[in-house]
Amino acid sequence: MNEISQPTAQQGGRHGNPLWSSRLAFILAATGSAVGLGNIWKFPYITGEYGGGAFVLVYLLCIALIGVPILIAEVMLGRRGRRSPLHTMATLAREDGCSAHWLLLGGMGMLAGWLILSFYSVIGGWSLAYVGNAVSGQFAGADANQIGTLFGDMLARPATLLGWHSLFMLVVIAIVCRGLKSGMEKAINLLMPLLFLLLLVMVGYAMSTPGFEQATSFLFNPDFSKLTTEAVLTALGHAFFTLSLASGAMMAYGSFLPKEYSVTGTAVTIAIVDTVVALLAGLAIFPLVFSNGLEVAAGPGLIFQTLPLAFGQMPFGILFGSLFFALLLIAAITSAISMLEPAVEWLEERQQGNRLRAALIAGIAVWTLGIVNALSFNLLGDVHPLGFLTAFEGKTIFDLLDYLTANIMLPLGGLLMAVYAGWAMSAQALAQALSLQPGMLFNTLRFVLRFISPVLVLVVFINQLV
Ligand code: PHE
Repeated sequence: MNEISQPTAQQGGRHGNPLWSSRLAFILAATGSAVGLGNIWKFPYITGEYGGGAFVLVYLLCIALIGVPILIAEVMLGRRGRRSPLHTMATLAREDGCSAHWLLLGGMGMLAGWLILSFYSVIGGWSLAYVGNAVSGQFAGADANQIGTLFGDMLARPATLLGWHSLFMLVVIAIVCRGLKSGMEKAINLLMPLLFLLLLVMVGYAMSTPGFEQATSFLFNPDFSKLTTEAVLTALGHAFFTLSLASGAMMAYGSFLPKEYSVTGTAVTIAIVDTVVALLAGLAIFPLVFSNGLEVAAGPGLIFQTLPLAFGQMPFGILFGSLFFALLLIAAITSAISMLEPAVEWLEERQQGNRLRAALIAGIAVWTLGIVNALSFNLLGDVHPLGFLTAFEGKTIFDLLDYLTANIMLPLGGLLMAVYAGWAMSAQALAQALSLQPGMLFNTLRFVLRFISPVLVLVVFINQLV
C-alpha cells in the first residue's frame, strides 16, 4: 500500500512513509480537520455578533477567492515535500532554488497549529463537560440564571477547567500516537459519518421550530450597513481558521496524499463540505435562538450559555442537547488531531520514527501551554499581556492567542504560501505538482495565487492597520 510513495525516494523524504488509504480517507481527514469548533462554535457566534447575512457573504467570498486557492497551494506543497511542514519547506526551497528562509513559513505554520491547539483544547474540554451536563439533565427546566451559573462556575474553577482540558488532550494524544492508519484514519472513519448524521438530526429538529424562517433570513439576507472593517478582517481570519490553513495541518495531511489524486478537486470538495457544515450549524443553532427569544449576539458563550436554555425548554431536550454537544466534541477531536500531527511528524523525523514518544512530547508541550489558557478564565483573568496596545486592550492570554493566530499568523502564512506557489515556483513546476495541463483552469488558479489572494489579504491587513 505504501509503495505508491515514489516521490519520497526522489525528493529525499522518509522512505516507506504511510499514505492515506484512499481519496475518501484523505477527504474525510481533511474535512475532519476543517470542520471543528470553528464551524459549530465560532462561526455562529461571530455571525451573530457581526449581524448575519452581509458577514456570511463576505466570509463565502473569502473562502472562494482566498481560502480555496491557498488550500490547494498548501496541500500541494505538503505532497511535494512529503515531510513535516518545516522540513517540507526546507526541501522545496532547495529544490526550487529559493532562499532557505522559506523554511520559516513551515515553522510558523507549525507554531500556529501548536498555539491554536493550546486554547482549542480548553474549549474541547468545555465540550466534554457539556456532554456530561446535557446527558445528566442539567439543562432541564433551568432558567437563564442557572444556565449562566453552570457556565460561570465551570470557568471559575481552575481545577475543573484543567481536568477537562487534560482529558481532551489525552484523547487527542491517544489517537495520534497510534499513527496515520491505525490511529487517525480509524478514528476519523468512525467519527465523521457520526458527525454528519448528528448534524442532520439537529437541523431536522430546528426546521420544525417556529424560529427557522427568521434564522434563514438572518443568515442569508445581507444588511450591508452592519458590515464593518473589523467584520471583514474577522471573516478573512475565520476563512483561514475554518479551512485549517497555514497552521501546518493541511500541509502535514497533504504529505500523506498519494500522487495520483487530484489536489484541486479534493481541495474544492473539502472547502464545500466545510462551508456547508458551517451553514448547517447556523441553521441548527439560530432557529433555537430565535424560537426562544434569546440573544443572537451572545458572543463566545452562544452555544454554551444560550443554547442550553433552549434545550432545557424543548421536548426531548436531554436527547437533543446530548446529541448537539456530542457533535461539537467530535468536531473538536478530528480538528485537534490535525493540529498535533505537524509537530508529531516533525519530532518523528528527528527521532527516527518513534511515534509514541513524538506524540507524547508534542502533546505534553501543548497541554502545558493550555494550562495558561485555561487559567486565563480565572486565576490569570486579569493578565492582559499586550494590554498597553489599544488593539489588544482587555484581551486575556486566551483572547490574545486566538486573535494573533486567526487574524495575523494564519493570513500571513496563507499570503506567503500563495506567494511561494505563485511566484517562487515556476509555472511548469506548479503545473506538474498539481498534475494540471496548461489551460484555463491552471492559468486562472496561478493568476489567483499570484495576484488575487495575496492582494486581498494585504488589503484587509492594511485596512486594519489604518
Ligand atoms: N478548522 C478548525 C475549525 O474550524 C480549526 C483548525 C485550525 C484546525 C487550524 C486545524 C488547524 O475548528
